[in-house]
Amino acid sequence: MLWKMQYFSDQEGIMRRYIHEKYNWDLHLKKSKDFILKSAKTKRKGKVVVLGSGWLLDLPLDELSKQFNEVILVDIIHPKQILHKLKDYPNVITVREDITGGLIDYIYHNLKSDKKKKQITLLTLANSFSFSLPKNTDFVISLNIMCQLHIILTDYIKRYYKLSDGVLQNLITQIQLSHIKMLPKGKSCLITDIEEEILTKKNQTIGIKPLIQIDLHKVNFSSSWQWKFDSLMTYKDDVKTFFNTIAIDF
Ligand SMILES: C[S@@+](CC[C@H](N)C(=O)[O-])C[C@H]1O[C@@H](n2cnc3c(N)ncnc32)[C@H](O)[C@@H]1O
Repeated sequence: MLWKMQYFSDQEGIMRRYIHEKYNWDLHLKKSKDFILKSAKTKRKGKVVVLGSGWLLDLPLDELSKQFNEVILVDIIHPKQILHKLKDYPNVITVREDITGGLIDYIYHNLKSDKKKKQITLLTLANSFSFSLPKNTDFVISLNIMCQLHIILTDYIKRYYKLSDGVLQNLITQIQLSHIKMLPKGKSCLITDIEEEILTKKNQTIGIKPLIQIDLHKVNFSSSWQWKFDSLMTYKDDVKTFFNTIAIDF
């Protein structure tokens, strides 16, 4: 299912692009790590849960594993190189779960037949899916995943349906609302891209697409920066793609 829905290729693509864009990416990754450590300062040091851990590129794992009793990494796929590396971290465990609370499975198994009816059911049900955090979580890090949660799902759906923009937007809103609702106030740090910016070869902005459709929480402190995601023009032909990223503690 995850192969067909392109979760594996998407994750491999992250590492491939990182290797090609290392300089630009390192700036973004350092800002993510610094923000997480600042946010961690005000949290109890029992259990930290990381949502969307992937390759751990943007996670200060050494510091967190020293500061917290337990580090729980959640992702739908943990790369085998990461599982190997984690053998050196006795207080870090991995959980393989869908952070939408089951939408991946639901969409894969239910949308193929009876398309019209399932489309309506999907939209009605979307807001009932939610992920439960482990008990007694002291700190949750939503790690560059919020704007990603819907992308693979909606790309997959589009291969089967011609859904109206309104219907798709509605689904994205439900996924994002459910994600933000699950993050406990006073214990959370959220890092996400909020806009995709398209630029010409000469760095002129020619388009900005919003990626987050909901109001984010009132924050304790925040930071924002630009992530030069693709300056080599390989992600989209003949244009550069940058992301405008925010980090919030709330
Ligand atoms: C853009 S990456 C975040 C960067 C990541 N921290 C890294 O260093 O690779 C998004 C991660 O979220 C995971 N992911 C996407 N959708 C997910 C879902 N519904 N449930 C759990 N993990 C998901 C992907 O497998 C990927 O590892």
